[in-house]
Formats: sequence, structure tokens, C-alpha cells
Amino acid sequence: MRSVRDIPLLHNVPVLVRAPLNEPIENGEVASDFRLRRTMPTIEFLVQAGARVIVCGHIGRAQTETLEPVYRALAERLARVSFSPETIGERARALARALHPGDVLVLENLRRDKGEVANDPAFARELAQFADVFVQDAFDTCHRMHASIVGVPKLLPSYAGLLLAEEVKELSGARAPAKPALAIIGGAKFSTKEPVLKKLLSLYDSVFVGGALANDFLAAKGYALGTSLISGADPDLVKALLVNKHLVLPEDALVASLDTDASSARAAALDEIKEKEAVLDAGPKTRSALAALARDAKTILWNGPLGHYESGFTEGTKSLAQAIGESSARSIVGGGDTITAIEELGIAEHFSFISTGGGAMLAFLTHGTLPGIEALSETVAS
Ligand code: 3PG
Repeated sequence: MRSVRDIPLLHNVPVLVRAPLNEPIENGEVASDFRLRRTMPTIEFLVQAGARVIVCGHIGRAQTETLEPVYRALAERLARVSFSPETIGERARALARALHPGDVLVLENLRRDKGEVANDPAFARELAQFADVFVQDAFDTCHRMHASIVGVPKLLPSYAGLLLAEEVKELSGARAPAKPALAIIGGAKFSTKEPVLKKLLSLYDSVFVGGALANDFLAAKGYALGTSLISGADPDLVKALLVNKHLVLPEDALVASLDTDASSARAAALDEIKEKEAVLDAGPKTRSALAALARDAKTILWNGPLGHYESGFTEGTKSLAQAIGESSARSIVGGGDTITAIEELGIAEHFSFISTGGGAMLAFLTHGTLPGIEALSETVAS
């Protein structure tokens, strides 16, 4: 994979950068600039080399969402940056043509055009018209077969940005972990996590499953879990993983009825969950078992919360973040709620690597590559 440092000529060259701009927005402002911060070295590298930089990306799921707040956050970091309210078309191209060496233009949300998600070749051609060179830095979206991920590299000589190159190096390392190795996968939805669990069970000594994801396993073991969220996974797939000796499951839980808040939760053994209660977080025994595993590990990989984080059940996730932060293991973590917990605790510097990918991180761990990365190795010649 060629990196941005391998681009032969940059001064006064128009460069299209696909960046990770999908930040959480609250009251019209960027609530966490984690991804933007991480792509800055790539943008700054191009600015300093005197390229004319055109930045594109997506935000949210609704087509109406705008990248304007992300542009404003970028403008706080860079002197010469402007915004195109249109993603493609003659007016956007005119703004790009007016750039001087070292200037940056941010294009409006790619997903405003249906061609992005549909990987429409006509939309990819429109994007390619902005520039002579393409740089992929949106690791978080490299698992999607979208125009700005797999379409543009067919049309322009394409390179990996500094963030993408770092993600690939670190996560490739996580696929060959120093032992003892502990992986923790939380969150929900068994079907999306099953492939990565299967892979990690073949690579790691202990694979702890937490969050709602664990409920499928606990239900398959015969525990009555009250009103807990169970994703209704294929029982054969669950059973196939259940017999794996590397799988580690919660020993207890914090439970509450679904209509109450975190303050009314109680610790319960797995066989004493009442009919109206739901498992909403990791219990104290589970937390100390995990802390002990983290203490002894040389590698720790973590993605996904242990509890219903967005409803305030944050204790299990935060205590795990603390335990990993205190461990001397190499720690590789990722996923939205996981990063929020680490940021809220202010302990980011205690982790070896924090991935900007959620789904992309899991897909890379499973396959060792992603469509957007493959597209770079098959790109057109410069
Ligand atoms: C993410 O937040 O995981 C990436 O930015 C991809 O976003 P998407 O799930 O909307 O494709």
C-alpha cells in the first residue's frame, strides 16, 4: 500500500482526500472531534507540501445532514480552509479551481448524493474530476463499497493517508498478538459480531463477550434472563462458539427493570434474575474477573461497551477502561461508546492505540483487509 509520503509531486497539485469526518453533532456543533484530530496529520502534510487540498467525507445516516459543523471545527485548526455547500458540480469545481497551494476546501456531505452509497460510477467520476491524486484516510468507512471508497481509486492514482496506514499497521499487529492475549467484545447484535468472535477465538487466549451480545450465550446455556435484549441469533451458531474453550462469559450482572434508571440497578447472580428485570451491565464478579485477566495479559483488544451505555449503565465499561489503562499490556481499542468512556475518564494516553473504526475495526480484524484498502492496491498507475 503506497502512502501519502510516496506521492511524487504535491506542490500546486489538486489532491482529493476522503477523510473520517463522521463526528457526533450536538446542538449544531461537533461533540467529539476524535476522528478529525486523527486525520489532521494527513491534511497538514498535504498543506505543508503545498497541495491544493479538497476534503470529502460523510456524516450521519440521513441524507440531509451537513458537514458544516465539522468544517467549522477544522477551521479552528487551519488558517486557509473554506466550505463548498455543494458536494459535486460546476460550482464546487470552481471553488476547487480557485484554491492556492496549501489551501483546503471541504465538500458537503457525500451521502447527500445517492451515488455515493450506490457506488455509482458517474458519481465517482464527478469526484475524480476535482483532483489529480486521491488519498484515502477514512479507515472508519473502508468496509463500505461506496463511491469514495472503492470507486474513485479506479479513476485516480490513489494512496493511503497517514491515519489509514497507522490503523492497518496496528490492527494487523492485533491479529498476531503477544500472549497471553485477551479480547473483549461488547455491544449488541450477535449476527454482526459472530465472524469477528470466531476469528478472535482462533487468535486470542481469552475472548470475553459482554454487553447484550453475551445474552445470546447465557440464554443458550439455559439462564432465564427476564426482559433482557436477546438478538435472536441462530442457536447453532451460538452453540458452535459456546463450546470453544477460549470463550469467557459474564459471571453475574447488574439488573434493573427496563423503565428505571441506572441508580436502581442491583447486582444479581445469573440464576436469580427476576421475570421483569433485564441485564443492563456487568456485575461486580465479572468486573473483577476481567480486571484480573487484564492485569496478566500482554495484549488486550477491546471493542464495544459492557452495559447499556447510552441509558446510563456505564459502570462496567468504565471499570474495564480503568483496568486496561492500568495494565502494562499493549492495548488496542475502538468503537463509539468505548472511546466515549475512555475520553470521559480522561485516560486516552494509557492506551497503546485507539482505532477510529467501529464496524471497520471489527471487519479488518476478521479479514485482515477491507474493500477500501484493496482498492488502493488495485488503483490506476500515476
Ligand atoms: C462509522 O461511524 O462507523 C463510520 O463512519 C461509517 O459510518 P456508517 O456506518 O454510516 O457507514
